[in-house]
Amino acid sequence: MERVRVISSGYYLPPRILTNKDLEKTVETSDGWITTRTGIKERHIASSEQATSDLGIEAGRMALNKAGLAPEKIGALICATITPDYAFPSTACMIQKGLGLNQAFALDISAACSGFLYAVTLAESLLLQNRAEYVMVVAAEKLSSFTDWTDRNTCVLFGDGAGAVILKKEKGNRGILSSYLGSDGSYADLLIIPGGGSRKPFSQEVLDKREAFIKMEGNEVFKVAVQKMLESAVKTCERAQIKPEELKLFIPHQANLRIINAVAKRLRLREEQVFINLDRIGNISAATIPVALAEADEKGLLRSGDLLAMVAFGGGFTWAGMSLRW
Ligand code: ACO
Repeated sequence: MERVRVISSGYYLPPRILTNKDLEKTVETSDGWITTRTGIKERHIASSEQATSDLGIEAGRMALNKAGLAPEKIGALICATITPDYAFPSTACMIQKGLGLNQAFALDISAACSGFLYAVTLAESLLLQNRAEYVMVVAAEKLSSFTDWTDRNTCVLFGDGAGAVILKKEKGNRGILSSYLGSDGSYADLLIIPGGGSRKPFSQEVLDKREAFIKMEGNEVFKVAVQKMLESAVKTCERAQIKPEELKLFIPHQANLRIINAVAKRLRLREEQVFINLDRIGNISAATIPVALAEADEKGLLRSGDLLAMVAFGGGFTWAGMSLRW
């Protein structure tokens, strides 16, 4: 049996931390509201000199160093992001250059918070079809550049960061057991950056209406998020023929602690199974899951043979689940 396995992981969080108390000074909000409604206490914010690719390069470098792999060994680089450096060229090309991955073809995918699991599923296909020996997946976001810092409904939620994994096909039982991906574009308007693209190019009106920033109908998104993250978890476990109670770790997308708790309760997970870092990091969209995975790996929470499931939900709408034997 051949499976695609994560051989290495890395992450990068910019050093500047923005706390709820800091936000109290700029918008009509409170640490109490943010903590009880979301579970978030602080988030990392990139500097004005850093673009999304700069965060991704740091995460990718850590993954390469941990693997002890020469950059030219990487045959493909997939970057998941909704906050690209430019409309084009791709952020993946910028990361490829920064890391010297001179044998890799590089492309971006856009699936919002589900982007990392989408990218790993595509990487798995490339590896199983022998298109590359090693594939790097980087998920990087500088959401602070697309956040309306005057909108208390959204600005308290997001942060910046990047995570990366290197994947390889190997004989044996370890690796990806199943994945489950879904999308529904009929919900597009509920979570969107409406301006600055081809539908509504940059104009004074876009600027005045603050349409180049994230707009979200939080309440509506919340309901579908619980439903689809639960569905993703159930389906990926079913496809892998494992039960949620057997999971060593469950890594959900970190958008809101109430969403995570609702999903974990319905899956009857024990508290120690559920990985949570949103209190320190907030929602970093596609980068959320790989940062959590790399942190869990660094903390030694995953041992060879442990079962792991990851689930995500985001703009599009998109959703995804994946289970692995570590
Ligand atoms: N501080 C204080 N009050 C606030 C704040 C704030 N930061 N934000 C909103 N409020 C107020 C609202 O104005 C509203 O007041 P009103 O009743 O007087 O109108 C009240 O709080 C309740 O607002 P709701 O929107 O109903 O609050 P809710 O409990 O739904 O929490 C939240 C909002 C945190 C956004 C939640 O809906 C959520 O997490 N949604 C899902 C987010 C998500 O999963 N996104 C997907 C991934 S993101 C991506 O793809 C990029």
